[in-house]
Amino acid sequence: MILTKDSFGEDFIWGVSTAAYQIEGAHDIHGKGLSIWDTFVKKKNKIFKNQHGDIACDFYNRYIADLHLMHSLNIRNYRFSIAWSRILPQGTGEANPSGIDFYNKLIDLSLELGITPWITLYHWDLPHALEQRGGWINREVTDWFADYVALCVKHFGDRVKNWMVLNEPAVFSAAGYFFGVHAPGKKGIDYFLAAAHHASLAQAKGARIIKSIQPDSTVGTTFSCSHIEPFTGREKDILAAKKADVLLNRFFIEPLLGMGYPTDEIKILRRIEKYIKHNDENELKFDMDFIGVQNYTREIIRHSLFVPYLRAKIVSAKSRKVELTAMNWEVFPESIYHVLKKFSAYPNIPPLIVTENGAAFPDEVVNNQVDDPKRVQYLQSTIAQVLRAKQEGVQVNGYFAWTFLDNFEWAEGYHPRFGLVYVDFETQQRIVKSSGHWYADLLKQKI
Ligand code: BGC
Repeated sequence: MILTKDSFGEDFIWGVSTAAYQIEGAHDIHGKGLSIWDTFVKKKNKIFKNQHGDIACDFYNRYIADLHLMHSLNIRNYRFSIAWSRILPQGTGEANPSGIDFYNKLIDLSLELGITPWITLYHWDLPHALEQRGGWINREVTDWFADYVALCVKHFGDRVKNWMVLNEPAVFSAAGYFFGVHAPGKKGIDYFLAAAHHASLAQAKGARIIKSIQPDSTVGTTFSCSHIEPFTGREKDILAAKKADVLLNRFFIEPLLGMGYPTDEIKILRRIEKYIKHNDENELKFDMDFIGVQNYTREIIRHSLFVPYLRAKIVSAKSRKVELTAMNWEVFPESIYHVLKKFSAYPNIPPLIVTENGAAFPDEVVNNQVDDPKRVQYLQSTIAQVLRAKQEGVQVNGYFAWTFLDNFEWAEGYHPRFGLVYVDFETQQRIVKSSGHWYADLLKQKI
């Protein structure tokens, strides 16, 4: 099948996504406060080769050239995040005019180039000053977040209409507060449950604030989603897969949809009730204009006695001897189809947008070019699966590739390259990969 843009319809939104900490650099200049990632990366052996995002893609200083490059690749929708501590160095209180100025310039140039901005308000970089006050564990975070959101909408809402409240609450609460492998590096079920509940409250509260200030805005939030299959047809594996589904797919979207937390399959999750106050069930609910679905692979799950609470574990893609990306994730484009079908089956679900999808492969520069046929193949196949879901009636209204530039991949440092554009982190040279050219060609097609 030849993939064409017009099969998706005129209104389908095509874009790319990035996140502040992963690309901006300039981590402590022009009045910016530190974030939990700025401090976490300085701890020994948390990040691959002790790398950090102090400079990253230096996007803060290079956004003009980068936006022109984006424009030259026919990309007309750009999802980026705001670094909370760049505009509120202490997380609350006084705003930093230089930080606001940076995002004003970024927004203005995007618009000048005909690129529509889609702002993510929180992509994991909580101000360090707020972490010192308990961070996501402290319920007050929902008020701090609400004030920050209001500030963003007041400053940028005259030009920005599209907002995403959170990026993947499941990932930042689990990796940051249960496993301790992401900032702020806390470990434990109670940390996780407190962070999860406060993130869910903040998500709905943030959305309500945006709408109250800017009623004609388009507001969504984004969830990490995995297509899950049991390892075998045995009852134990099927049950294990159901538990993984709760954690990887259901735990954050269901309270937002007014269904409460799904705790039937995993009893320990009922401990979240400790953090729930009167009327929270209503506070967690919000009718978003869209739901951002982010998918990279599928997970195969089996029963395991050794995993506390869950009794379920992921069967690694490596052990299954399937094709892998540089993240050791299975190359399985069909997963996006299943995830879209699954999420669209919720009653009263708003339209879906794929707000992240992509793959990391070990790219190489040869004669100043980067040929990445595996990424082209991956994107092509995944986008075809999005079309399959759409043609079967799923309301999916957009696709944002992850990501524009190779960047700082959190605990994995710089080695997994997800970009459509190669970045030489020594020289900051950019080289459009063949996948970038392929995406540009797809986006160019006249309808
Ligand atoms: C995150 C990105 C990350 C990507 C690839 C998503 O979970 O939102 O920040 O780089 O996955 O791992």
